[in-house]
Amino acid sequence: MYTVPKLDDYSPAALDRAVADLFGALDAEIAALHSESDWKEFRDRWMARKNGVLTQVNDTWLKAAPKDAKRDVGQRVNELKARAEAAIDAAHEKIHASSAVTKLASERLDITLPGIRRPIGVKHPVLRVQDEIVAVFKAMGYSVGEGPEVETDYYNFESLNFPPNHPARDTQDTLFIAGQEQKAARDRLLLRTHTSPVQIRSMEKLAPPVRIVIPGKVHRNDPLDATHSPVFHQVEGLAVDTNITFSDLKGTLDHAMKSLFGSSVKTRFYPSFFPFTEPSADMQVSCIFCGGKGCRKCKFSGWIELLGCGMVDPNVFEFVKQNGYDSSKIAGFAFGMGVERIAILKYGVEEIQLFYEGDVRFLEQFA
Ligand code: PHE
Repeated sequence: MYTVPKLDDYSPAALDRAVADLFGALDAEIAALHSESDWKEFRDRWMARKNGVLTQVNDTWLKAAPKDAKRDVGQRVNELKARAEAAIDAAHEKIHASSAVTKLASERLDITLPGIRRPIGVKHPVLRVQDEIVAVFKAMGYSVGEGPEVETDYYNFESLNFPPNHPARDTQDTLFIAGQEQKAARDRLLLRTHTSPVQIRSMEKLAPPVRIVIPGKVHRNDPLDATHSPVFHQVEGLAVDTNITFSDLKGTLDHAMKSLFGSSVKTRFYPSFFPFTEPSADMQVSCIFCGGKGCRKCKFSGWIELLGCGMVDPNVFEFVKQNGYDSSKIAGFAFGMGVERIAILKYGVEEIQLFYEGDVRFLEQFA
């Protein structure tokens, strides 16, 4: 680092050399500056009043100069100070500008990069199929209803003609809410096992005629397997009017299946049993995988069982008789279909669990 030398020779040539040395050192230091803080340290070393290089020049060169050289040295020192100060200022500006350039460079935005795209969500396949089913019936003039998922024993079983302790209840085992022993059996809460309780709820609210579909979530104490889940969805249907016959039931469901699976699908009705319908039937569709020829999916029968249905049992109308449901004057049909089951058939899904796992690789196929 530069220190101010004592001068013994005050001749102009010697002074020129001393000044040139000083500026040589100054320029070298300026070239080595990289940051604002480098520059500040450098400035203080050169310009500090107390002991700065320029003050030392004053003290060592001017004050010690012989009388006859004082004038010349004084003038040179003044010039030198002005020049040095200007160089120090210029160095500051240069540092400043170059740090602004690096800052700008680091903040550079590539506006040609594509932005972060937020994928747009779509309806879950189960809801999509549920809505599709509902839409088919809406187009036939049906209204849409809803009911609670936590239901009373009365609506889920009793009013649907499942008497207490009747063995038909065993086919729809479910979860009961705990700690309800003091309540009357019919008031005890449970997770509904089907959407059929909303049949009664709808008939309590609406006088006949009614045509209504009711989508919703239901629960069963069923072990999970490829096609069964303890929580699933159903769409219930109910039509009550004068002169409703089993032919209306068949025609309505046949039309609905053709709308959902295509016009070549066939339906057939097989005797079955539900406490709340009489007669009751299971509806089957011709296998949509093999067209009815027989394959592994339909267990080589050509038919796939799809839903339960039947004519509303007069015992059920008894529970809503006061609202105009007199079984000597009116009749009705009802049906209930599993949404996942229809979705599995429509999309050829192998495992019902895929609907609930939330894996986007599965779900995005339906986008
Ligand atoms: N609720 C019945 C079930 O879950 C289906 C059904 C509905 C049957 C309406 C007949 C009439 O299995």
